Amino acid sequence: MRFPPAFLDEIRDRVPISQLIGQRVAWDRKKTNASRGDYWACCPFHGEKSPSFHCEDKKGRYHCFGCSVSGDHFKFLTELEGLSFPEAVEKIADMAGVPMPVRDEREEQREKERASLTDVMEMATAFFQERLQGPEGAKARAYLRDRGLTPATQQSFRLGFAPDSRNALKEHLAAKGVPKADIEACGLVRHGDDIPVSYDWFRDRIMFPIPDSRGKIIAFGGRALAPDALAKYMNSPDTELFHKGNVLYNFARARKALAKGGTVIAVEGYMDVIALAQAGFENVVAPLGTALTENQLELLWRMAPEPMLCFDGDKAGLKAAWRAADMALPSVQAGRSARFALLPEGKDPDDLVKAEGPDAFRAVLADARPLVDLLWMRETAGGVFDTPERRAELEKTLRELTSRIRDESLRYHYQQEMRERVLSFFGSQRNARQGRQDGGRPGQRGQGKPAPGGQFAKAGGGRMPITESLGQSALVRRGEGMSVREATIIVALVNHPALIDENFAHVEFLDLANSDLTRLHAAILDAMAHDMANDRHAVVATIERAGCAEIWERAVGLIKRARQWPALETAALEDARDALNQALHLQRSARTLHKELKQAEAALEADPSDENFRHLIEIQAQFQDVQATEALIEGFGVSSGRAGRA
Ligand code: UTP
Ligand code: MN
Repeated sequence: MRFPPAFLDEIRDRVPISQLIGQRVAWDRKKTNASRGDYWACCPFHGEKSPSFHCEDKKGRYHCFGCSVSGDHFKFLTELEGLSFPEAVEKIADMAGVPMPVRDEREEQREKERASLTDVMEMATAFFQERLQGPEGAKARAYLRDRGLTPATQQSFRLGFAPDSRNALKEHLAAKGVPKADIEACGLVRHGDDIPVSYDWFRDRIMFPIPDSRGKIIAFGGRALAPDALAKYMNSPDTELFHKGNVLYNFARARKALAKGGTVIAVEGYMDVIALAQAGFENVVAPLGTALTENQLELLWRMAPEPMLCFDGDKAGLKAAWRAADMALPSVQAGRSARFALLPEGKDPDDLVKAEGPDAFRAVLADARPLVDLLWMRETAGGVFDTPERRAELEKTLRELTSRIRDESLRYHYQQEMRERVLSFFGSQRNARQGRQDGGRPGQRGQGKPAPGGQFAKAGGGRMPITESLGQSALVRRGEGMSVREATIIVALVNHPALIDENFAHVEFLDLANSDLTRLHAAILDAMAHDMANDRHAVVATIERAGCAEIWERAVGLIKRARQWPALETAALEDARDALNQALHLQRSARTLHKELKQAEAALEADPSDENFRHLIEIQAQFQDVQATEALIEGFGVSSGRAGRA
């Protein structure tokens, strides 16, 4: 009898492989790390004195580095104990406490039917492949060539073409003796009570055959050639063979490629998978026209402990990333997490490797962030945390979020990590107050020498004398590097000129620290003066006329690197408005505070009274707070600066 694969998976998952093997071998105490599910012993398959036999519960597999046997639960029993396969299954099912499936004739019958359906799908695949090479395929071949897919790549993914006909495939299959019912069961035709004559499901489309985990074709994706087609991509309907939420495109090949090392990468589209394979990345899969599902994430985790989830550089991509993060969160544990990579603005992986080559994609992967960063970013980016109430609200949100993690130990570590992040971003105020209680004095300007007694403020996790950290702060720099905050203001205004009008007064009196951005600001004012500030092109043209094209590019580059998408041209106006208001708010606080700070310092110098000192400390504390919020906005950049964490 054939066992349903789900049954085999279930019993295998329930019995740690170490438990099974532990009945036959004695674990080596020194090398074994039971808490990680990592076991070593002398190999039971060949005689040896030092342990080179290894098994890992997470993977459910064993391997001997001495005699290179390897396998899973069933193989262990069949090879070491000489059990037959059904006997091995019975034994593991017994250990798992799962009853053996009853022999189900109907299920076996369906199994046979499925086998005949995969034959039909194979015939359809060959048909589409032939049509691609035939005369009607000329347009499709040209299309694929224009998209940069070599004939070898097309072959290896078995790409095809469905002609623009209502019955080409249907008649082809019928002529080969395939029963009507099978063609329908494969989802290759549209049929039903309201359809008098069934007709081909895919017409005038490039065909992407979708293999299952063993490489058998179970469905198709079809990309419209006509630019005005109703749906750009269409997939097979769910059938006996195909449940789209349980399948990943390119799963079988990716799994094979993983044997060479690396982790699995999930991208959004078929074309991305294929273009990446052609560029040398074979460990890539994609969901099928839906957001990543839980089942698909499980598949990824079966391939690698930390799959790389890669999202397009647009708003939809970022949203999809967040949705994936939310979905993954409850199920993460040690050895089951994910990293998130976001493509540069407006690009998908296919665009990127085509325009800039494989190294550009490698750079995106190298920039990937762990799950914890993604969640932190989402909850903090764009928020203003300038009051205790808002900070408490943030803490509450983060607590709620981390409480969804089911694994107790990991939940604890996430909660601790989030607490630390909140503390290191907002801890400054309390520390500054402490300085006052200690009766300390601010560090001497410019020297940055630590003097005893509360002269240090802890800003953003680093610890340095207040004056020194102020000196380095982007808030005070003038004529130096651009801050993300100031660049956000300018870039959002230029890209969304409607905002210039809305914020007329603020824009006119904008006080920027960076001299380059000040030049862009001047160009915006110039455009306003000439009544041209309602059109993005006109504003950009004014910038170029002012000789500031290079500065403009630098500013946009900074925004992209900081992933401040909302300031970019492609963002929705509402998002740009939020980002602008946020940045303007901070800008005002920062610039005002900076001036007050200077005054307070001067006052203290002129009259070193206790009152003046207290005043200075207060302003410094507020300043640190704005600085912390500033750091939050810079999101990615800041957390990556804290190397070694997370
Ligand atoms: P995209 O719209 O990002 O397309 O859809 P793409 O992969 O970049 O395709 P090209 O480069 O224009 O050819 C990503 C994925 O979403 C699904 C498909 O699986 C596609 O690969 N999709 C998209 C649909 O199912 N239907 C659609 O109409 C569009
Ligand atoms: Mn694309």
